[in-house]
Amino acid sequence: AARHRERLYALCKDAARFYYQTLWQPEHRAAQQYFIGRGLHRRVMNQFGLGYAPDSFHALIDAMTAKGYTREELMDAGLVSRSEKGRIYDRFRNRVMFPIIDVRGNVIAFGGRVMDDSKPKYLNSPETLIFHKSRNLFALNLAKTTKNGYFILAEGYMDVIALHQAGFDSAVASLGTSLTEEQARIIARHTDQIVISYDADGAGQAAAQRAIDILKKCDLQVKVLKIPGAKDPDEFIKAKGADAFRAIIDRSENHNAYRLEQIAAKYDLEDDEARVLFLRDAARMLAGIESSIEREVYAGRAAKMAGVTAEAMNIEVRRELGIRR
Ligand code: CTP
Ligand code: MN
Ligand code: MN
Ligand code: MN
Ligand code: MN
Repeated sequence: AARHRERLYALCKDAARFYYQTLWQPEHRAAQQYFIGRGLHRRVMNQFGLGYAPDSFHALIDAMTAKGYTREELMDAGLVSRSEKGRIYDRFRNRVMFPIIDVRGNVIAFGGRVMDDSKPKYLNSPETLIFHKSRNLFALNLAKTTKNGYFILAEGYMDVIALHQAGFDSAVASLGTSLTEEQARIIARHTDQIVISYDADGAGQAAAQRAIDILKKCDLQVKVLKIPGAKDPDEFIKAKGADAFRAIIDRSENHNAYRLEQIAAKYDLEDDEARVLFLRDAARMLAGIESSIEREVYAGRAAKMAGVTAEAMNIEVRRELGIRR
């Protein structure tokens, strides 16, 4: 079994090399242009080992079997699919390729993106003997040596790559899945502070709320970034630059403040009835804060937001705590 794993590592590394070499062949200028058009420099493309899977059902199979890998190994590495008739074919075709590398530096899987807006936008390797999505973070192999005091958690491949190119070498992504507890524990081995930098859309914000809970369980200090005027970190950096991103990191809020704002956004705080509802909603959230000091601080903030006394807010929070206990 150990020998089989080693074979799969070797195969994935050779596949990454194949995709890399294919990308830089002159006839695949369109794929090169895709990355360049998204603002990536050659240096960072090489750092991430970016590649291209050609528009063929057997190019990878041919190249890897020529190197002595078996069809079964290709199947077990998740690099090929099997048709109903039992024939295998390249899983990734006509996609730009992002190798997924584990913390020890082994290529273990791939993400492949279309170059237009066909679906699915990204195709990823399936779970395999060497790839467990929930136990890996994209770019952790690079981020683990950062001198930054905090990690940045983004959603996607391009966000992380754009962040690294802009000098934020502690950026990682949770590989599209919502963050898992295992991933949070792994992050906590490398840092004690994290800035969640998910997409600005509803899905991204909902995922951020879930990530806060999971990361807090690991005793991480959690901040949440708001990305004004852009969909995600990649687009923000492209539009406004690295310094502007650093500025929003410096202004990023503690997760409690972020949560209060998310709650406040649901109510019209000019309206008395709505204010009462906001205070109840906020009290429920505040009652969930474990530290009594933190609870007090953010109760004070909520009170200010709704224009009531801190005392009134504290009574409401205590009532909520009473219900819980
Ligand atoms: N994802 C995926 N499969 C999809 C869509 C998304 O695995 N069909 C994962 C990818 O890891 C992707 C991340 O979820 O990077 C975030 O998705 P999304 O915000 O839709 O994509 P972006 O990373 O912003 O992709 P791009 O900028 O290339 O459009
Ligand atoms: Mn630690
Ligand atoms: Mn998204
Ligand atoms: Mn994007
Ligand atoms: Mn995105």
